[in-house]
Amino acid sequence: MPTAPPPRVLYGRRRIATRVRSLAKGIDAHYGDRPFTLCGVLTGGVVFASDLARALRNDRIELSFVKASSYGTGRRSTGRVRLELLDRGGIAGREVLVVEDILETGRTLHAVTGALRLGGAVDVRSVVLLRKPGHRAADVDPDWVGFEMTEDAFVAGYGLDAGDRWRNLPDIVVPPEDAR
Ligand code: IMP
Ligand code: MG
Repeated sequence: MPTAPPPRVLYGRRRIATRVRSLAKGIDAHYGDRPFTLCGVLTGGVVFASDLARALRNDRIELSFVKASSYGTGRRSTGRVRLELLDRGGIAGREVLVVEDILETGRTLHAVTGALRLGGAVDVRSVVLLRKPGHRAADVDPDWVGFEMTEDAFVAGYGLDAGDRWRNLPDIVVPPEDAR
């Protein structure tokens, strides 16, 4: 295998962990001891959702997941969002917090929050770990944002992939343009 340059670290694991703890504090302050459903957006949001869940003090949360896909295998959004709600039971009549990895056009978050409201959630809030500058197409405003990206780069790691690679990296990196 040819040796490629290592991907550049944009948000390191320690910085992510610190930010996740402070997001959890804010979320705990909002919900108090009320039960709610933490709904992770698969696949990219799975790492953030499980770290965030473990950082919360509230011990009455239910875990639920929605599978969303818009990218296919490329680095550009296809513009259409396919959704699959994996557990309707945890949605109807509940307060739901959507946990998403990254907000770009906003189409995914818009589709997910809409589907949860249709599914009978009484309140839907959202937290995204990263928000990219520009690109907004859908009118969405997450309640909590981990990092406002100053750089409009395609990123990978910490759950995010680039062409099916780097999802399991503990850091968030900028993979080289031509990497496979
Ligand atoms: P949106 O629907 O355009 O807001 O895009 C959000 C979805 O696209 C996220 O859930 C990610 O799965 C994916 N996505 C957007 N930007 C990136 C990126 O830089 N790296 C990996 N996935 C991304
Ligand atoms: Mg995603």
